[in-house]
Amino acid sequence: MCGIFGYIGKKDPLKVCMQGLKLLEYRGYDSAGIAALQKGELITIKEVGKVSILEEQVNQLDLQLDLAIAHTRWATHGKPCKKNAHPHSDAQSCIALIHNGIIENFASLRSKLEKKGVAFASETDTEVIAQLIADHYKGDLLSSVHTTLSELKGSFAIALIHKNHPDTIVATSRDNPLAIGFSNDLSETIISSDPNAFLGHNLNVFYLKDDEIALVGRDSIEIYDKRKKKIEKKTEKIQAESISFSKEGFEHYLLKEICEQPFTVQKVLVENLAENGTDAHFPQLPFSSRELKKIDRVLIVGCGTSWHAGSIAVSLFEEMAKIPASCEIASEFRYKPPLLSSNTLAIAISQSGETADTLGAVRKIRERGIKVVGICNVKNSSLTREVDGCIYLHAGPEFSVCSTKAFTSQLTLLSLIALFLARSRKMSEEEGEVFVSELKKIPQKIDEVLKRSSEIELLAKKYSHFQNFFFLGRRMMFPICQEAALKLKEISYLNACAYPAGEMKHGPIALISPTLPVIAFCQNEQTYEKMISNIMEVKARGAPILAFASQGAKGLSSIADDLFFLPSCPDLLSPLISTVAGQLFAYFIAKVIGTDIDKPRNLAKSVTVE
Ligand code: M6R
Repeated sequence: MCGIFGYIGKKDPLKVCMQGLKLLEYRGYDSAGIAALQKGELITIKEVGKVSILEEQVNQLDLQLDLAIAHTRWATHGKPCKKNAHPHSDAQSCIALIHNGIIENFASLRSKLEKKGVAFASETDTEVIAQLIADHYKGDLLSSVHTTLSELKGSFAIALIHKNHPDTIVATSRDNPLAIGFSNDLSETIISSDPNAFLGHNLNVFYLKDDEIALVGRDSIEIYDKRKKKIEKKTEKIQAESISFSKEGFEHYLLKEICEQPFTVQKVLVENLAENGTDAHFPQLPFSSRELKKIDRVLIVGCGTSWHAGSIAVSLFEEMAKIPASCEIASEFRYKPPLLSSNTLAIAISQSGETADTLGAVRKIRERGIKVVGICNVKNSSLTREVDGCIYLHAGPEFSVCSTKAFTSQLTLLSLIALFLARSRKMSEEEGEVFVSELKKIPQKIDEVLKRSSEIELLAKKYSHFQNFFFLGRRMMFPICQEAALKLKEISYLNACAYPAGEMKHGPIALISPTLPVIAFCQNEQTYEKMISNIMEVKARGAPILAFASQGAKGLSSIADDLFFLPSCPDLLSPLISTVAGQLFAYFIAKVIGTDIDKPRNLAKSVTVE
């Protein structure tokens, strides 16, 4: 799960590569490195940690590079340290190679090479590729890469340089995105895991397909297919959007993104609500109205926060459109028997559009001849190219690894898709109008929660000395508890567990004690009374209780140690309000603890490996 970048052209390869790496840093920040040819010499510089550390280092050197490849790493094989940082070399230091993905058979390949006397310098699967290419190399770089590919199992994108080929970057990939962009006069070519990193360059872009090999030269690009036959690729112009890296006065991107939610939710409404005020419109859906009517099942796939959004949407589709729905964790779905009917509406949710498991699930669904609708925030991402129709969130870039505004945009969009399906079936115009008018109030209600963030900050300070947290909720609030617990875990590094409140008595209640606070999300009116009983059960066992409930909710003030009232709204839309309280609670706890809030340890914004 890494970012790959390479440059050959008239500009300074060092500068272009450093800018590219910064744009790819969302893919991992365990280490960063660059390899280049400089007057025929192969040089490699790598540093542990963020790209800025590498940048500081290279800026102190007087480098005049001819071409370069650069990498930002999220560690899979081998801990984050200098020796495991990319680029990796062969034993003779002729090759420098960068890689994203996983080589599944690296152990057997490595032991074969070791038996031949090859010495390894790192613990990575990547080094095996460099050593194998060197082992096969007899002067023809294309052939040695081609032979190596036939021995690799797994998914990967690779770029490499060789000191005997001073004007060439080789690029190849399998099940992993790798874009190549070149200017009209071929005066510059860039290789990147993500075409959005071509920002500022006006390029013609194509993507490598499985096992294709590109030989990128100073004024030529040759592409070979898996049988080593030379081929032509179709290109397109990509509009990489310019990104502002400003925190706009906020201490962290995370807080900025939390505070943007009244606008980002509003944006989804503006983009997708129909003018009649009772319906939504989705011309992007790849279905005829006959096909839409026949849909008898909704299947949603996603990971992490996107999976939580999908879990909430299950209730929206079932309650509003009366269509049976399910949401699957993409990494689990991939390896289940694909029992899909042809009238299934499949939805893949991904903020980044690069999550490997979600892409794997999409491929599996499409192999069965079922169309997939993508819900995505990042333009030009892999998901947008692989689905049959894509609906964008338009939430603007999410820099914080912890996803917040994308989640509320996903929820809003899913509510509108549910409305659209419901209205095309039995939902009346009047019911549609009521739902739309409640949806339109959401941005204002989120704003009301944000305006009281100092109260949540005080609560977070009070609870920040606990090491473990239990989040309880029912129905719409259970996925919100999962989401709130995920936020807390990822940015504060504290243990947090989410449970459906009614299930507590079947085991987890044994954990309850005065050292385990219960954070109760009570905004689901339908189950409110039941929730009160469950809170009584944990109170009786000594748990400190912080409750989030709708304004005017009765009976909680005498039970909960702390109570925060949220603007009330219909159950189906309550996740959009409650989740903001969960986000702020996690943020302020992490702030007390002093973690790296925007780039928490061990994580990456895009999870591009299985
Ligand atoms: O880009 P995606 O929506 O596909 O990402 C899925 C998860 O990796 C992501 O939501 C992750 O769980 C976030 N860090 C949660 O805040």
